[in-house]
Amino acid sequence: MNQLRLQPFRGMFLQIGEPYFEFLPHPLFPDDAEAVFILEGGTAFIYKIRHVDSGEQYALKVFKRNARNEQIAQITTALARYTGLPEIQAERRVCIAPNAYPELVNTYPEMAYAILMPWINAPTWAGILLNPQASAAYTREQALSLAQATAQALSKLEAYGLAHADIAGGNVVPSPDKQQIQLLDTENMYIPGMPTPQKMSQGTPGYQHQHLGPHGHWCPEGDRFAGAILLTEMLTWWNPRVRARVDEDAETVFLQEELQALEVPCLQAVRDTLYTFSPQLLELFDQIWLSHTLADCPPLSTWAALFAEHSLT
Ligand SMILES: Nc1ncnc2c1ncn2[C@@H]1O[C@H](COP(=O)(O)OP(=O)(O)O)[C@@H](O)[C@H]1O
Ligand SMILES: [Mg+2]
Repeated sequence: MNQLRLQPFRGMFLQIGEPYFEFLPHPLFPDDAEAVFILEGGTAFIYKIRHVDSGEQYALKVFKRNARNEQIAQITTALARYTGLPEIQAERRVCIAPNAYPELVNTYPEMAYAILMPWINAPTWAGILLNPQASAAYTREQALSLAQATAQALSKLEAYGLAHADIAGGNVVPSPDKQQIQLLDTENMYIPGMPTPQKMSQGTPGYQHQHLGPHGHWCPEGDRFAGAILLTEMLTWWNPRVRARVDEDAETVFLQEELQALEVPCLQAVRDTLYTFSPQLLELFDQIWLSHTLADCPPLSTWAALFAEHSLT
């Protein structure tokens, strides 16, 4: 059989199982007859496609060669067993395993282990940080509800013994009302009992602990530091004093080399802002900032409990 490179063009159909999907136009080039909606991440290309019969929009995550491996299928199957985690929509993710989709993968070898999932129509947290209008519209009340939802979601994963292992602004999508989140990029997750992957997640710059162990973020405590940094970003970004001290092109509040350092331009503004919510929040932040290892950081349940027990305003 002829093997083809996947070179989608606008209006191209792709059959995945029974249904057909259509590649959608690029929003920035609506007049270009060829350009399709594609985003490039660190490990994959994400296409926006449409289920031809239902009209529903989907994301197709096609892994780059060095990130494409069998473990993606194992993780997708293992995660689907964790019902009660709407934040990861595990049961709505389909992995294009070669044995389940032999014809498709034979025709397009790049489709091996690709993920088909519902399209989420909202910017990621990194997208909000990068967008001056969205940043200016972000309020202190939204900050509190978003951080609370995030702490709850992360502590729920923790209670199952799971860790996302790559918590970062580009992998988190707040709902438009900032009352819920969705987590993307779940293929590197730490799941108890799964074999050690060849590449253990080291996380994303801006969220990595300075002293990671041999397993990187791929361990039960893997989200404690990155999750705390994300919560700190969410709790403080509404404050123009914080935003004024962060580079305008930054998609994180802290640069990787600033994490856990003492001389950081925005550190005082961040700490002051946390204190306005609660002295205990500042205490948690100081603990993770001064921690020597991931296991030294308080569990995410501690953050979630603080939001639940005290009605912070
Ligand atoms: N289901 C989805 N709906 C909408 N956008 C998505 C979806 N999945 C991924 N994206 C977009 O694609 C980007 C990269 O996807 P991600 O899964 O994080 O890939 P990578 O492993 O390369 O980081 C995300 O930051 C997000 O902007
Ligand atoms: Mg990602």
